[in-house]
Amino acid sequence: MPAWKKFTWFTLVAAGTLLLLTFLIWALCQYGTMGLLEVTGPIRIVFIVLACYAAVLPLLAIMDVYIASRRPSGKIRLPSKYILVLAAIAIIIPSLLLGWLVPAPSQRTGDKAVQLLMADGTGKYGMPDMAVTFWTINPSQNTLKWGAGGTSTIIREEKPSLQHALMLRDLQPATTYRYSLNDGKELQFTTPPGKGQTLHFAVGSDTHFGASTARHDLTGKMLQQISDPAHGYQMFFLLGDKVELGFDDSHWQEAIQALSATTSTMPTRPLVGNHDTLFGGLNLDQEYMYPQQMDVKSGSSRWQRIDVNDVHFLMLDLEWGTQSYSAEQAAWLEKQLSLIPREDWCIVMSHCFYYSSGGYWGLWDWYDEKDTISELAPLFEKYGVDLVFSGHNHLLELLQKNNVTYAICGAFGGQPDPERSYVSPASIWYQGGSPAAFLDVTLTADNATITFRDPDYNQLKSLTVTR
Ligand SMILES: [Fe+2]
Ligand SMILES: [Fe+2]
Repeated sequence: MPAWKKFTWFTLVAAGTLLLLTFLIWALCQYGTMGLLEVTGPIRIVFIVLACYAAVLPLLAIMDVYIASRRPSGKIRLPSKYILVLAAIAIIIPSLLLGWLVPAPSQRTGDKAVQLLMADGTGKYGMPDMAVTFWTINPSQNTLKWGAGGTSTIIREEKPSLQHALMLRDLQPATTYRYSLNDGKELQFTTPPGKGQTLHFAVGSDTHFGASTARHDLTGKMLQQISDPAHGYQMFFLLGDKVELGFDDSHWQEAIQALSATTSTMPTRPLVGNHDTLFGGLNLDQEYMYPQQMDVKSGSSRWQRIDVNDVHFLMLDLEWGTQSYSAEQAAWLEKQLSLIPREDWCIVMSHCFYYSSGGYWGLWDWYDEKDTISELAPLFEKYGVDLVFSGHNHLLELLQKNNVTYAICGAFGGQPDPERSYVSPASIWYQGGSPAAFLDVTLTADNATITFRDPDYNQLKSLTVTR
């Protein structure tokens, strides 16, 4: 066999094997991949097939040499055609995947619109501190003018940057503030009411911007309902899976553009979902939803405590399940729970659910999540958490277990899940196959009224919980 053939044979087999291994190691090192593999059966199968391929290809090549060496002299034929085809596949597949996924998070598509995001921490008048946030594709240095009534304060960023968060601290309750960026269009928002007043907020989850199956028209209608002054919402929480593919900036561009009309005029806190963090998406999520200039008083950019007087929101980072529930987050959560007075409202929100009806979908049990239930539900019960809101399952459900009320509202535009085949023993109301809905929550001193509303603002179900 000519030397060039031997060299080609060796190079192709080695390159294919190395590329397969490179892809697998790279993918496994990415944040969130372990959860992805654990929960998503089809993706797990793809990874197993690629790993087997990487192991078997060199063995087949050695066999090829062995078979060739046993042939009568002069009839050695290397490489075999089948090895060439297998090696070519082993080169093409990981090259395509790496070529798509590795550069994707750095391929930004443009400036991101303004949002008014609640920060971890509370000002001296019992209101959450907030930030006017945005992102620019080129470094820029910006000026924010803001204030209430006749007063105004000017903040100038210290240096040019891509991420931007101009902090608004120590806000007064029930006060309308105006702000304008670089002397541009003036926007306004009103802070939540003072102590003893009714608190009214909206919760949605799983918009999946960028997905062809998502109903962004319905998401848009619900966002309009939430920002409609006639409905009187004071805060908005978005519980993750904001985008379909976290590593694809065009999905973030679409999401923030659609959200901004509501989230620039209403105090908003988004959470991290499993789709948001896919293959480098976590960085994009953090840059857009918790820029580095935002204050962090007790939690982190991924989990926060937000207080409105004596109503306490604990925002958790639970994506696929407990894979993202670090020891640091667990210690923080238990500490916050222990500090919150039992007579105050305590509300926990996360992307991943705890108790839920569902089904066996994609080789995974999408119901009564064993890990979140075993690790977190006992804490909720021990410290008297009142309400727990989540998404992740694309359905609507109310559940009660050991004096804790759970609501799942993963229906803010993402493709609905199939009808449930498993009914959680904790379920008290369920609606699957629903195209879209969000949660409307009204809190008084003693009562919490939880209402599911569709995009036309019709009430689907309402439950009042009395403390
Ligand atoms: Fe989702
Ligand atoms: Fe999810």
